[in-house]
Amino acid sequence: MEFIKAFLISDLPPGSRKVAQLPGRKVLVVNIQGQIFAVDNACPHMRFPLNQGRITEDCGLICPFHHSAFDLKTGNVKEWSPWPPGFGPVLARMSREHALPIFSVKVEDGYIWISQLPVRNA
Ligand code: FES
Repeated sequence: MEFIKAFLISDLPPGSRKVAQLPGRKVLVVNIQGQIFAVDNACPHMRFPLNQGRITEDCGLICPFHHSAFDLKTGNVKEWSPWPPGFGPVLARMSREHALPIFSVKVEDGYIWISQLPVRNA
């Protein structure tokens, strides 16, 4: 598996997030109490950016647009386009549910490295 150097580990302290530019895509990198997750920054619902989404205590990520919720550890969908009431569920029915692509992360030589390809495709 090929990895790409993303950031200095000191540039992503616990509780922070950053977007890394990989070839052909942007990856959202999140540090939750020292655990680092990397996911596609494009929401699988309508491809809008996820980097302003809410992160939950159980390592969930909620899209800021229609509030689809994903598990940062697995990329699994917890909820698909529930918002806004009425319209969100209509949008949900118009699109098939897709998991959020996740990337492998390693910390080496003081840097965060991200796998060039996702470990799981939606
Ligand atoms: S774009 Fe993310 S839930 Fe619709």
